Amino acid sequence: MIVLGIESTAHTFGAAIIKDRDVLSNERDLFTTEEGGMKPFEVAQHHVACCDEIIKKALDKANVSIKNVDLISYSSSPGIGHTLRIGNMVAKSLHALHNIPFVGVNHCIAHLEIGDMTTGSKDPVLLYCSGANTQVIAYDGGKYRIFGETLDIGIGNFIDSFARYIKLGFPGGPKIEKLALEGNKEELIDLPYCVKGMDVVFGGILTNLKTKYNSKEYKVEDLCYSLQETVFAMMIETAERAMAHCDKNELLLGGGVACNKRLQEMARTMCEERGAKLFVPENQFLVDNAAMIAWQGLIEFQAGRKSDEAETATIQPYLRTDEVEVLWR
Ligand code: ATP
Ligand code: FE2
Repeated sequence: MIVLGIESTAHTFGAAIIKDRDVLSNERDLFTTEEGGMKPFEVAQHHVACCDEIIKKALDKANVSIKNVDLISYSSSPGIGHTLRIGNMVAKSLHALHNIPFVGVNHCIAHLEIGDMTTGSKDPVLLYCSGANTQVIAYDGGKYRIFGETLDIGIGNFIDSFARYIKLGFPGGPKIEKLALEGNKEELIDLPYCVKGMDVVFGGILTNLKTKYNSKEYKVEDLCYSLQETVFAMMIETAERAMAHCDKNELLLGGGVACNKRLQEMARTMCEERGAKLFVPENQFLVDNAAMIAWQGLIEFQAGRKSDEAETATIQPYLRTDEVEVLWR
């Protein structure tokens, strides 16, 4: 089965072609800024400007004609309304032109399923660390349950906000990671450590970091180092608690922040200490990508999900992971 996946939940417009379990192409274009963050209408404009080219690239690279596509899958939830709408419109238009069935899928669950497909994890706890989403998710009792999550902003947005504050531009994660490598590893700067059960909070840490930055008493590299050590430890603690609670011995990483080598190292140490297995997808499947949307559409369609009706196919910016009906497991 050949599936065209379309991703547009936030800053990335992506298109991918998969043929069953083979990813034939996985193209993307990322909205970036030199300074300042994401304004929804500007990101949507970016997606409108590049969507045709990215889809054409995905088809050409896979050597597939749109006429041979059996299913179109787009991300319908959760995300920024302005940008979700673009993927939804593209999918509907292609459906209208070529009479190809189409389905809208949940982006968060797609992160977990592409991890299982590409790394071989079977029943993991997913530590999902992306820009907007920070959740610890596992399959339990017929649904994907959220065992822990951020109570305010996502970990990536937190990192990007600090990066923006110190004028690094967007996305800030990779730049903070680079600076952190040059930080003093002998001395951890004291930052608030905010874990509540399996939930986390970042707002206070951000304020604290900004105050420390403004005081000019600290080197930026040292602040970046301590930022990473603190918030990654918080995430690993909640993931470990969820693994113990659900009695699962696999940890899967997902989301753009999981590209961070220090986070991966901390996850590996925790898993080794409890005799669990760590699964880390390739970077192209960690960040927002359309291959995972294609794969999610494929497994749902093969499990009996019907094509959406063009009249009712819509977006659900606030749909939560545990509200998704799971037909495919
Ligand atoms: P979602 O829609 O799933 O919430 P997202 O739209 O924010 O995700 P992702 O591509 O999953 O998109 O993640 C982007 C985030 O990952 C950004 O906040 C970026 O700064 C962060 N990031 C990317 N690389 C790194 C890195 N090496 N270290 C830390 N953070 C990173
Ligand atoms: Fe994502």
